[in-house]
Amino acid sequence: MGVGLLGEQHARAYQGYARSRLVGVYDRDQARARAVAERLGVRAFASLGDLASSEAELVSVATPDFAHREPAEELARGGKHILVEKPLATTSEHAAAIVAAARRANRLLSVNLGSRCNPSFVGAKESLAAGEIGRVVAAHVRHGDAISVATRMLGWASRSGPHWFLFPHSIDLVRWLTGVGRATTVYAVETRGVLAARGIDCADTLRAIVQFPGLALSLEVSWIIPDVWPHLIEFELTFDGSDGRLRVDRSRIGFELSSDVHKRHMYARPSTWEHFTVPDFYWGILRGTVDAALDGGPSPIVGEDAQHAVEIIEAMDRSARVGAAVDLTVAARL
Ligand SMILES: NC(=O)c1ccc[n+]([C@@H]2O[C@H](COP(=O)([O-])OP(=O)(O)OC[C@H]3O[C@@H](n4cnc5c(N)ncnc54)[C@H](O)[C@@H]3O)[C@@H](O)[C@H]2O)c1
Repeated sequence: MGVGLLGEQHARAYQGYARSRLVGVYDRDQARARAVAERLGVRAFASLGDLASSEAELVSVATPDFAHREPAEELARGGKHILVEKPLATTSEHAAAIVAAARRANRLLSVNLGSRCNPSFVGAKESLAAGEIGRVVAAHVRHGDAISVATRMLGWASRSGPHWFLFPHSIDLVRWLTGVGRATTVYAVETRGVLAARGIDCADTLRAIVQFPGLALSLEVSWIIPDVWPHLIEFELTFDGSDGRLRVDRSRIGFELSSDVHKRHMYARPSTWEHFTVPDFYWGILRGTVDAALDGGPSPIVGEDAQHAVEIIEAMDRSARVGAAVDLTVAARL
């Protein structure tokens, strides 16, 4: 449900997987639902209730960031397993409600954190697990999108922000790769104004320090990178360990061209967001969720992991607002 940029790709991924069959699609925008249904040769559900009472066993929720709770709750009540796009929600209250709804209904809750299936990160996990850099003590994340992601790609950027849109991936990766526990303290500062001047009321950039037990994480994110910057998505993670350093740079997805004849060296970006499709490996979580639903296994993503990422990002918002560190252990004790 929600067949916009990502939702239609979910639908195609179900159709492309041997163990699943796409039953239909739903979107509040019925014209869009019908157009996608026609392209994919399936039916368009007329309402969320229609979908919730259908024969579908698993439903992807790919509505905008802030609109995951209501459909997830209704679908869980209808007995559906659910795969929610990241972030799980944009408030910890909504995230907890989604986790609780799935648990109450005894249905799978999965979150589309497909970066875990990226071969670079799978390799990094093997290296860290083998202790190749010793004990990881600090990590740094640089994340960002070209400005057109906020100004043209997302119609609802004002109700999200670069940290809500991108950090669910990076926080999840840091926790999954290192096995670190829950965050204890969060401090963040943000800048605003560039996007606001273009009518988009959200942060332009944000920097944060997150303390985990035994691991200090710093993160930076920008939503005002020029469109001509070589990387549509900037994404770099560095881990410092007691015996070495590991870095994964996912930014450079283009190619370099060098020619003495033409007297130039250039880096070419393969696509702009208009042609943005996520790579095939990314659907590993979707396929893993289908497998878990069919085989009765556990969800490939633990809902509480995505819920904790929401708590951390929410604490960044609060810290930036009050200008002080937020103690997450206090919230956990309340
Ligand atoms: N995993 C990734 O790498 C990745 C990349 C981009 C977006 N996303 C996530 O996917 C989700 C969707 O993003 P998008 O870019 O596809 O957005 P989009 O705006 O292109 O599509 C959202 C769709 O949801 C529909 N919709 C909105 N509210 C609805 C409701 N209450 N009920 C039914 N339909 C509703 C809209 O009509 C629209 O068709 C977001 O959570 C976003 O963060 C993930």
